Amino acid sequence: MQHKQSEALFNRAMEVLVEGCSSASRGPMNYKPFPPYIRNGKGARVWDVDGNEYIDWQLSFGCLPMGHAHPKIVEIIQQEVAGGTHFASALEVEVETAELMVRMLPNVDKVRFANTGTEACMTGVRMARGITGKRKILKFEGHYHGWYDGLLVSSNPQYVTSLGHPNDPVRIPDSSGLTPGSWEDTLVCVWNDADALERVLRSHGHEIACVVMEGVMSNMGVIAPKPGYLITVEELCKAFNVLFSLDETVTGFRVAPGGVAQLYDLKPDIVTYGKALGQGFPIAAIAGPDHIMESIEYGKVLHYGSHNAPRLGLFATKTMLEEMSRDNFAGFQKMSEVGEQMTRRLNQVARDTGHNMRVQNVGSMFHPVFTDLAEITTYREFCQTVDLHKYGEFSQKMRDQGIFFSGNKILHNLSCTEHTQADIDASTEAAGTALEQLAK
Ligand SMILES: Cc1ncc(COP(=O)(O)O)c(C=O)c1O
Repeated sequence: MQHKQSEALFNRAMEVLVEGCSSASRGPMNYKPFPPYIRNGKGARVWDVDGNEYIDWQLSFGCLPMGHAHPKIVEIIQQEVAGGTHFASALEVEVETAELMVRMLPNVDKVRFANTGTEACMTGVRMARGITGKRKILKFEGHYHGWYDGLLVSSNPQYVTSLGHPNDPVRIPDSSGLTPGSWEDTLVCVWNDADALERVLRSHGHEIACVVMEGVMSNMGVIAPKPGYLITVEELCKAFNVLFSLDETVTGFRVAPGGVAQLYDLKPDIVTYGKALGQGFPIAAIAGPDHIMESIEYGKVLHYGSHNAPRLGLFATKTMLEEMSRDNFAGFQKMSEVGEQMTRRLNQVARDTGHNMRVQNVGSMFHPVFTDLAEITTYREFCQTVDLHKYGEFSQKMRDQGIFFSGNKILHNLSCTEHTQADIDASTEAAGTALEQLAK
């Protein structure tokens, strides 16, 4: 595989774009020495500017449940683009899309559209503060909710020695440029440990507006919640009068039609969506029951946005929801089956080649980690045992064979409805080759 055109573009890009791209995860931080510049995609495949073809398991960071350029999406966008892109008033397609969502989502009466997961999570926090009158929020080590200041604490992998006692995790700012308030008001707890949460809520529940969490830890490989954990979180939040804000930016419209909330039978107060919801367009949403959502009515708790609910994006979202719901939600079933099979087959390849690679998944989200543990159940186990460098080498060797695995070492891979049995076979065979080449 040669990358002359990508290299030339990277050199040009470095003159005008920071890191040669528009978000660190797409640049040389994750793709060394430069990223493959992608020209186009179709189904589960992408092609770079050198004409290299890849089976795509990154799918725009999870934004494409129906893959690239799905014919139904292309058709609706071509049909609607001539009708204009954005207006300073409300839209019929906005109502129709929200109606579909409310039908699919548990405990949701109303929806408010935003553009990105970051905005949705940030709004959720503000709503919780406005509703409760409390100022602090509680998040979890290793959970990422976008790049809003108040949530940029303890999201990244660290040396375990810098994490502090699990009863009182050190709050580690994820960025320069944050004010002290952004982490003083953000408490941090270890995840997948109900006793730890209860301890924090006992001491601080009176000042915490909301508990914000990913239902499946998705930015540290894939770590499933322990049986009963999420429902206990919900009960604890109620008991201590703290709102439960479930971040379904990754899991929403992916792990089940009603996301983690449906899968684990939850009734969160605030839910945030993004990624898959827009089928490649920047569409996100905040959702919840009436008594919660009314907080943003008429700017009581402010949520504005010139670009909220863009018309073409909503047509894509509506079409995706309709297509994925067909035949009793067959699209969701297909995505999950592909993810399950990839997980099973990759684990078999790891055993066959004698590598300590473990693949964990929840439905369509899967991720290989190199660890001597039989299973990773917590962020601290991930930090302490996972060999990120080895994953980096593995994913590079996969891409060298035309299999696009996540370049970001902690970020999971995903399936879409367009992956075929041949894609799974080719990808697992390539994994065998990659592992044979890796030092044990
Ligand atoms: C769980 C979670 N929440 C929120 C976000 C932020 O979403 P966005 O990148 O659309 O701002 C992400 C992004 O990766 C995420 O993984």
